[in-house]
Amino acid sequence: MNDASRSLLTFISDTPTAFHAVRNTAHRLRLAGYTELSETEEWSLVPGGRYYVTRNLSSLIAFRTPPSLPAGFMIAAAHGDSPSFRIKENAESPAGGFYTRINTEKYGGMLCSTWMDRPLSAAGRVTFRRDGAIRSAVVDLARELFLIPSVAIHMNRHANENASFNPAVDMQPISGGSDAAGGYKRLLAEACGCDPEELLSSDMYLYSREPGRIWGIGEEFISSPRLDDLQCVYAALCGFLAAAPSAACPVLCLFDNEETGSATKQGAASTFLRDTLTRIIDALGGSRVDYLRAVASGFMVSADNAHAVHPNHPEYADPPHRPVMNGGIVLKHNANQRYATDALSAAVFTELCRRAGVPVQHFANRPDLPGGSTLGNISDTQVALNTVDIGLAQLAMHSVYETAGVRDTDYLITAMTAFFGSELRAEGTDCLRLL
Ligand code: CO
Repeated sequence: MNDASRSLLTFISDTPTAFHAVRNTAHRLRLAGYTELSETEEWSLVPGGRYYVTRNLSSLIAFRTPPSLPAGFMIAAAHGDSPSFRIKENAESPAGGFYTRINTEKYGGMLCSTWMDRPLSAAGRVTFRRDGAIRSAVVDLARELFLIPSVAIHMNRHANENASFNPAVDMQPISGGSDAAGGYKRLLAEACGCDPEELLSSDMYLYSREPGRIWGIGEEFISSPRLDDLQCVYAALCGFLAAAPSAACPVLCLFDNEETGSATKQGAASTFLRDTLTRIIDALGGSRVDYLRAVASGFMVSADNAHAVHPNHPEYADPPHRPVMNGGIVLKHNANQRYATDALSAAVFTELCRRAGVPVQHFANRPDLPGGSTLGNISDTQVALNTVDIGLAQLAMHSVYETAGVRDTDYLITAMTAFFGSELRAEGTDCLRLL
């Protein structure tokens, strides 16, 4: 029981950062016969081939080529990054006359209080000098090393009212006493197999060492770090690998930097997807027009977790749009198109789910609350095609320990398997057939 969510927990525990999301996804793709391509080299693709390409080691696009030029691109995108604290270049400072402090700054918008008083580690990408070249290593220090201590209630009697956290003061972890100075750099060098003097720079992020769990009277809930958005990443990957072949080109996107607005060379606002799709058509001998036709005939599922109605604060949810955990896939709607869903993309996805036997539910922000943003409308500025924004209902989004429904993992895998095996055929401008 709950096999998919148990496998998801294994995937998450191996995936502390976006770099690891790419590494672990690539590993699973290689086991399934996928060949890695490089953006700096020529691509010679064969019909019926399986490929993936990465950018910055932190974003990945995988695809299968159909027997002839693709009828359309069937794309699903999710993000591999999560809110965290990035360790600064000058990582250590003395603190309080006794401690060694690790200097961090916020990456994305987290619920700060949830990061306190728990063992933390660090993972990410490190660069170092070796044989006259600049090398990159994706590393996980994989030990309880740091902790951000809260202030005792006896010293801050207002701690339970109007809690506020200054990231420069309240959110800095310690790594030990003053004799721990130099220890962090030593661990980084060890993880890379180099000398501390050979280290050049790093993109290292804190992560919680708390393991994920399945719980509840009926074992219906899953709690873990980084469910947003690794639950969608994992389900999309499983569906991508399981799908039957079609005349379309299935494309799986794993983007970094969603939590900071996607505007990086490897984020959803970058050229990565457009460049990759263009090169697929080029390598298959197609023209610019073939590319445009395959995009216009395609569809994108932007998968990023959604808010479940909160048990103690149902008032934050719009009364007619209150998704529940284990209630099926959430379609996200927004009048200002912060979610790219419209009547057509909602119809296509709902019909796909109906055929696959997967329930759907609907989310819209309460009209007086701004809500969040996601990948769909940002990616559409680079590759414009019919797009639906979906997610799985969860509680405590951007807590260091989030909660979702175990059955929803299975629902999304089923829906993604159906999606990646399907194609869309336009009949005139007002009729679409889902095949
Ligand atoms: Co997200």
